Amino acid sequence: MTTAPAATDATTLQGWLEDSAATEQLGQSLARTRPAQAMLELQGDLGAGKSTLARALLRALGVQGAIRSPTYTLVERYPLEAGGEAWHLDLYRIGHAAELDFLGLDEGDVRLWLVEWPERGAGALPPMDLRLELAVDGLGRRYALVAHSAAGRQWLARLAAANELPG
Ligand SMILES: Nc1ncnc2c1ncn2[C@@H]1O[C@H](COP(=O)(O)OP(=O)(O)O)[C@@H](O)[C@H]1O
Ligand SMILES: [Mg+2]
Repeated sequence: MTTAPAATDATTLQGWLEDSAATEQLGQSLARTRPAQAMLELQGDLGAGKSTLARALLRALGVQGAIRSPTYTLVERYPLEAGGEAWHLDLYRIGHAAELDFLGLDEGDVRLWLVEWPERGAGALPPMDLRLELAVDGLGRRYALVAHSAAGRQWLARLAAANELPG
């Protein structure tokens, strides 16, 4: 069963992802509508679909070749066709946010941040624009997108206007 995505207010968008393809579709839509510079947090338990979405988003931005999981490296960096870089972080394995000091997070022309397990890097990450919350629900996933800045709200508005969101 699918239901249309619901905009509960200007800062939240919720819906249902029936399978991995739907998660990838959401990643592609986020890529198409992203602001010039953005920080996207990906929140959800192990297996919720964070990496699936990040990979689809990066592919849609033109990243070719392998898209590795940053599980052990903490960060993977990708040059973007449009200029600058996208940085994909997975902080599941860090013990303390101070460990991020060694990653040089403040160096580089980062146009897009994708951060899995952002709660583990609290205080050491750039300010968030948008948070995607993913939760396992039966065979699929529920999602909520929550804007935390003006850029995040614009992102949500463009997503809603694009009218291509999965259920
Ligand atoms: N909407 C969905 N419905 C069902 N399975 C999904 C969905 N999205 C992703 N998956 C699957 O869930 C598994 C875990 O996904 P993954 O992206 O590695 O999760 P995470 O990075 O959050 O730990 C993968 O096998 C993926 O194909
Ligand atoms: Mg992952």
